[in-house]
Amino acid sequence: MPQLTSPAFPPPTAMLSTQAPFFFPMGHFILFVFVASTIFHLQQRLAKIQPTWELVPARTTSRHEPLETMENTTGSQQPRGMWTINAIGRLGNQMGEYATLYALAKMNGRPAFIPAQMHNTLAPIFRITLPVLHGSTASKIPWRNYHLNDWMEEEYRHIPGEYVRLTGYPCSWTFYHHLRDEILREFTLHDHVRQEAQTFLRGLQVNGSRPSTFVGVHVRRGDYVRVMPRVWKGVVADRRYLEQALDWFRARYSSPVFVVTSNGMAWCRENIDASRGDVIFAGNGNEGSPAQDFALLTQCNHTIMTIGTFGIWAAYLAGGETIYLANYTLPDSPFLKVFKPEAAFLPKWIGIAADLSPLLKH
Ligand SMILES: *[C@@H]1O[C@H](CO)[C@@H](O)[C@H](O)[C@H]1NC(C)=O
Ligand SMILES: *[C@@H]1O[C@H](CO)[C@@H](O)[C@H](O)[C@H]1NC(C)=O
Ligand SMILES: *[C@@H]1O[C@H](CO)[C@@H](O)[C@H](O)[C@H]1NC(C)=O
Ligand SMILES: *[C@@H]1O[C@H](CO)[C@@H](O)[C@H](O)[C@H]1NC(C)=O
Repeated sequence: MPQLTSPAFPPPTAMLSTQAPFFFPMGHFILFVFVASTIFHLQQRLAKIQPTWELVPARTTSRHEPLETMENTTGSQQPRGMWTINAIGRLGNQMGEYATLYALAKMNGRPAFIPAQMHNTLAPIFRITLPVLHGSTASKIPWRNYHLNDWMEEEYRHIPGEYVRLTGYPCSWTFYHHLRDEILREFTLHDHVRQEAQTFLRGLQVNGSRPSTFVGVHVRRGDYVRVMPRVWKGVVADRRYLEQALDWFRARYSSPVFVVTSNGMAWCRENIDASRGDVIFAGNGNEGSPAQDFALLTQCNHTIMTIGTFGIWAAYLAGGETIYLANYTLPDSPFLKVFKPEAAFLPKWIGIAADLSPLLKH
């Protein structure tokens, strides 16, 4: 791919109009037209398979919804410059970074490009459309870094600069919820990913019949089990929280099924009561290939999340009722300097307060 799309190889149409008639005799010219149009069509096909072009005119980004042009319409109609964002963290973080770049670039009338690393994380799962900026190109651009908090600020509506790299760990709905339909479209699962999850869900039974209400349960453990108390003066979800959350759904729906995914499944099996036959320990908990677990959660009707951006995104995409763990740090936690609960959880989601007593024991 890179050799077809690098800036050293201008689009064939441009070569035709400027050079060909002047330098080539007729026979060579026809041959040239043939070769150039073959390359052009190949390029178009490749672009359809995977939008991984580099520095090419903004025109070719048309798979992306047309961006608002800048106020200055005396020049070209294309928005000028190039905005990107850091690709740090795992799936949930990178989804937040993607959605934030999408929304802020649009708000500021700039074209958005994602780093190749972000494409590698998201494209196998979702039908994302933002074009990719390869490392070799990105390294030649004199970026202006612009740090974001994890909540929308008024000043982000007018970020100066044509070549801006947004930085930080933004994930908040306050950046992109006004574009909810577009964000859901960007994070549409590939058919095979969705089908696999659907096949699994269709095979489930509660009390001998197929359930009509599926509740995805995401239990984030792993590194957080140590990091929350040590670094953030906080807790992760405990047995009691999950019991309350499951009971909330049991009281409102007839025979719901709970589809549990976790990166600590052994803990879940010991601490979630499955004796009613309505709890399924599903997914593979594999942090390196999160597609399967994530797809299962989004194909459920409702969500019980614990902590972390993976669960937040699963709930946002599932779009049903959501129970989250609330107030899981002490009031003086440094976590609250970088995290605003009201910007992380949608107002309609329902919080159940965490039991902080383990932090107070010494
Ligand atoms: C508008 O765009 C034209 C052409 O690119 C440029 O010459 C002019 O300086 C721009 N004006 C402003 C106000 O940016
Ligand atoms: C299964 O059916 C029994 C008998 O009707 C009922 O008591 C029980 O609550 C049902 N279990 C679930 C999980 O719906
Ligand atoms: C609940 O989820 C299942 C599985 O994805 C789906 O088949 C069903 O239509 C959903 N029910 C509602 C009311 O959306
Ligand atoms: C979390 O704490 C805030 C501030 O003390 C409070 O207003 C809110 O009701 C608490 N949330 C829950 C679910 O208890």
